[in-house]
Amino acid sequence: MNDPNGLLHDGDRYHLYYQHNPDAPVWGNIHWGHAVSDDLLRWEHLPIALAPDELGWVFSGSAVVDRDDTAGFGAGAFVAVFTHDDAGLQRQSLAVSDDATNWEKFAGNPVLSPPDGTKDFRDPKVQRFTADTGSWWTMVLAVGDELWFHRSDDLRDWTRTSVLRPRTELASLVAEVPELVRLPIDDSDESAWVASFSIIPPEGVRPRGRVVWAAGDFDGERFVPVDPDAPWRAFDVGPELYAPMAWDRGPHGDVVAVGWMDESGVAAERAAPWCGRLSLPRRLSLTRVDGALHLRQQPVLAADDAVHERASVPPGVRLDRTAGSTVVVRLGAVGRASEVDLSFRPVDGSAASTVVRLDAATASIVRQEQGEPEMTVELGPSAGAVDVVVDRGSIEVFTPLGPSYSAIGWEGTGDLRLRIDNRGAAPCSVEVYRW
Ligand code: FRU
Repeated sequence: MNDPNGLLHDGDRYHLYYQHNPDAPVWGNIHWGHAVSDDLLRWEHLPIALAPDELGWVFSGSAVVDRDDTAGFGAGAFVAVFTHDDAGLQRQSLAVSDDATNWEKFAGNPVLSPPDGTKDFRDPKVQRFTADTGSWWTMVLAVGDELWFHRSDDLRDWTRTSVLRPRTELASLVAEVPELVRLPIDDSDESAWVASFSIIPPEGVRPRGRVVWAAGDFDGERFVPVDPDAPWRAFDVGPELYAPMAWDRGPHGDVVAVGWMDESGVAAERAAPWCGRLSLPRRLSLTRVDGALHLRQQPVLAADDAVHERASVPPGVRLDRTAGSTVVVRLGAVGRASEVDLSFRPVDGSAASTVVRLDAATASIVRQEQGEPEMTVELGPSAGAVDVVVDRGSIEVFTPLGPSYSAIGWEGTGDLRLRIDNRGAAPCSVEVYRW
């Protein structure tokens, strides 16, 4: 698999479609695979939702519920808006369903073609926008290194309303999989829009994060970042997370994103006939510290069947535990005198290990016996709880002010050894969930 697509909640269950090659664990012959879930964590595979046709492969896109029958497919129809890729010619198309499982492509496809000579023209994120003056559909599309915004009354005819070239620290890039969501700010009634996209950097360049975001204002036609001159910020600073998309307002009214863990480099040596996995779903919100907005990601977890332990680890003390292939460590507020190492290592003796080293100001991630921090994340002044989730070799670290860190540390589903080493001068409180 690669990108998640068409994330929707049908009133009963969450649907997840995803970029999928049914023939081999390598990218190609792209379909939309399909899975459903009640809780975003336990997924059931369903038959493929969309297959290639004479207009090309079925690239990334989104899906909406057309409650008012604006498109003429019936009130409540599910409509997927995706990119048809015909050997590089990229055009936007529709597919329709009344059960979110059996899909039919629209006979009038494609509904949006690129201007002559425009190559990278893909990954429509469509949503309903309501203003004082009425409601319409909006689409944000990745076009070269720009984001193009469109509007439509019926999902079929689209008009471009604005073009934005996001500022980043890179001289050139190709943008992919844009996302645009409205997020609450802390526990207030305030909210702001957040736009994000994924980046193909120039050859040989490794940006600090391959997904970037900015907070701003969106009026249904144009997105204006709060600080138009500031570079967009990293969403995740691990090597693997890519193409996050959100379920916008599920049954609990919140916004939950999920990304693709790109393990194309890793899986070549794997015997198992699969490649690529989902990140943990993360609830998104904004938090304001000293006037600046930070993107907060909190992992969605179901711990009802885990062994749960709560402990206060005194200074100078180590706690050793073994777990199955999944463990969650939730570290209580990191304070002034804190210095804690959380180390995770498969029991099978392989050299792989990941250490999350926390002190009052930063979280540093040290991987694979390299000894040197691979990545350091500022925890910020309010240093709330830090969550670390390790699941079958995926390691995901969630810090109070973001960004997250997502990586694949090792292969396999064997047991894990966990060590919590309090090297600081104050006790630290931890919760451990083991499966
Ligand atoms: C991102 C991406 C998208 C595209 C899809 C093709 O990983 O390249 O831009 O639609 O994957 O599989």
